Amino acid sequence: MLTFLRIGILNGGGDCAGLNAVTRAVVKRAEEFGWQVVGIRYGWEGLLNADTVNLSFHDVAGLVNQGGTVLKSSRTNPFKRPNGPQTIVENVKKLGLDAMICVGGDDTLGVAAQLYKRGLNIVGVPKTMDNDLSSTDYTFGFDSSVNEATHMIDNLRTTAESHDRVFVVEVMGREAGWVAAYAGIASGANMTIVPEEPFDIEDVISFVRGRHEKGEKATVIVVSEGATLKSLKGIDQGKVDEFGHVRLGGIGQYLGDEIEKRTKYDTRVAILGHTIRGGSPTAFDRVLSTRFGLAAVQLIKDGNFGMMVSLRGTKIAAVTLEESTSKTRTLDSEILDVTKAVSY
Ligand code: F6P
Repeated sequence: MLTFLRIGILNGGGDCAGLNAVTRAVVKRAEEFGWQVVGIRYGWEGLLNADTVNLSFHDVAGLVNQGGTVLKSSRTNPFKRPNGPQTIVENVKKLGLDAMICVGGDDTLGVAAQLYKRGLNIVGVPKTMDNDLSSTDYTFGFDSSVNEATHMIDNLRTTAESHDRVFVVEVMGREAGWVAAYAGIASGANMTIVPEEPFDIEDVISFVRGRHEKGEKATVIVVSEGATLKSLKGIDQGKVDEFGHVRLGGIGQYLGDEIEKRTKYDTRVAILGHTIRGGSPTAFDRVLSTRFGLAAVQLIKDGNFGMMVSLRGTKIAAVTLEESTSKTRTLDSEILDVTKAVSY
């Protein structure tokens, strides 16, 4: 058994609901072991700059229900900075960190996997509202985003029906359609479009027309930001982050414009964007984050470095960091079939 004194925790990539609950659980369990927890601010950026804050349970006790991250986050990729990885290894030594918990999606955990190979004692915790990490059945943040999106789509449905309008609702999720599919199913969307299945604009137009002809003048279409047309490549905003991801968004507007232009039906577009990433976590995410935080500390205690905690069915498990970032977990075909089965 290892007796560590100081462990670091960082949050990288886009924030999501449940990050603070992980930090709280980590500090709670670490203090029970007599360890000191050091919060690293702004993800990998904080390790490049040795920007840290000591955390006691008193600092994090009330955070289980708070959205965002008190540790702050960034999309910094140390492998894109001059001497980045070397600086991190040196700073970890200078800060006296015996081990680190990296909480992030595939980018953050990918960096963690590489730094583990350079000798750092790292364990990972999977987070992302996109739910697109392989090797875990759920990431925390996903359930909260789905619930926010569902609530907003329910609201949009009432105004769509009052005005006999078509509403196109764009949600985040990048290359994976989990958020769109779950929110679409839960809110009773008339049609849900996901990146896993490029769509034909003609099919959307005839679907909306068909509804109108049957007297159904309000139509709600949920579209994932990463959805693509069969005839066109995805719409991006031309901006790329340090991990090479383009900034998405725009497909909803495109779709809304085309529907209105071709059908002349009154159409509106709502881009939910970051509104479904912010806000407080659902009970499901609070529980999952807490379980993940405790399990991550246990991995350190057992000396299981280079591993990530994961959820397999209903049980907490561990997988290698390398395996966890090997591929994007796209929407499975059964869920895709459900979106189609309830489309009307
Ligand atoms: O990775 C999570 C995510 O919310 C994606 O769904 C979305 O494409 C992206 O982050 C947006 O990132 P940013 O907050 O940098 O605009």
